[in-house]
Amino acid sequence: MEDLAWGTDAELTDEQFYNRENDISLIKSLLETTSTGSPPTLMIVGIRGVGKTVLLKKIKKELKNDYLTCYIDLSATSGYQMGKLTEMGIMEHFYTCWMEECQNKNFKTVFKKVKKYFQTKNFRIRDIVDAGGYPLPIPESEDDYRKLSKFVLELPQKIYENHSPDIKGAILIIDEFQVLKDLGGRLDAFLWFLRSVIQSQKNVAYVFSGSINSRDSIIEKIAGKDGAFGGRMLNVEIHPFTKETVRDYLTEKKPSLIFNDSGFDRFYECTKGIPYYVNTFAKLLHQDVSLDEDNVKEEFKRTLPMMAVHTINQWSRLTLHEQNITTTLLDKPLKRKEIAEKLNITTGSLSKPLNKLQNWGLIESKKGIYGISEPILKAWLKKEYEEKGVFPFRSI
Ligand SMILES: Nc1ncnc2c1ncn2[C@@H]1O[C@H](COP(=O)(O)OP(=O)(O)OP(=O)(O)O)[C@@H](O)[C@H]1O
Ligand SMILES: [Mg+2]
Repeated sequence: MEDLAWGTDAELTDEQFYNRENDISLIKSLLETTSTGSPPTLMIVGIRGVGKTVLLKKIKKELKNDYLTCYIDLSATSGYQMGKLTEMGIMEHFYTCWMEECQNKNFKTVFKKVKKYFQTKNFRIRDIVDAGGYPLPIPESEDDYRKLSKFVLELPQKIYENHSPDIKGAILIIDEFQVLKDLGGRLDAFLWFLRSVIQSQKNVAYVFSGSINSRDSIIEKIAGKDGAFGGRMLNVEIHPFTKETVRDYLTEKKPSLIFNDSGFDRFYECTKGIPYYVNTFAKLLHQDVSLDEDNVKEEFKRTLPMMAVHTINQWSRLTLHEQNITTTLLDKPLKRKEIAEKLNITTGSLSKPLNKLQNWGLIESKKGIYGISEPILKAWLKKEYEEKGVFPFRSI
């Protein structure tokens, strides 16, 4: 029986979902303090593909009977999809999500109250749009926009107050929050506004999650000591599977893979225990044949282009300059000055591209030393170079 999920699956069955008992019980117990009237604000971090989204969806599923729960994937916000993320688009997304949840829970009075609010609070309305089947008025001025945002952000608390015997609180999960960077200069204002509204809520918990490295600037803006939520945000980091976990996982879920010891060691080295790669590689490997170190190495080369689809796609959208910077980091991490010397350019001209490469999760900086943070990109670039003698700058 095929039990492994594909690396692109966003929701796993209980059969497919493996491990993470400790993370789940920690996050759940933190979230359940919401029922006592002091809700936490959580930041769930972890590298790309480690399993944050599937974990959050599982936790949502387990809490949805007791709480009003809402899961938002910010990268699915309509404005972002069309290349322009706006505060209004985000509010629309939050609003639809709460309305859907009320529908699911059959909280009918909410709809009447919302309608009444829109009629009585007399903000000037430019238009009424259809937000996922629910009418949402578009305010005319900046001032009205703030009123509407405040209204949307206060919704879960209000809904709770109207339905407190039925639910213990509300939980809003905001995934892929790194796309908020697209707000650019308006990011700070947005975060502080969010903070000011939600800090007064006694029964709503907020969970932020996204793929960023822990040294990322947006994390600083949110959770750092001078950040909008500084001090009161709890960080939980999700780690790749350990070697033992991967071994047990494959033995249980994919017994048709037959590794000898060195073959398995190599499998772990290739995937680094990142569930996205573990699943993808395990599904593409030859089954029912004995796999030693060399076999796994060969197979890794064969399947790399498939495992690296997402990364190759990103690579092909980089400028030549950005690609050049990336390849200088292949052998070892370098300081900004060293990169500039290697490429014979000024350090100043590195600021923008280094920022973009970091924002895209391709490189990271540890104490001012830059390195490639995406292991599969590294492996793929090396393979291309070995086979073709040049980097795939423009060949895709
Ligand atoms: N606990 C798990 N058990 C089994 N497979 C898992 C588990 N966690 C993750 N996976 C596999 O890894 C894939 C990627 O997981 P997920 O999308 O949750 O990662 P992510 O951390 O949210 O990544 P991104 O940062 O790109 O959003 C899943 O589709 C699934 O195939
Ligand atoms: Mg995710």
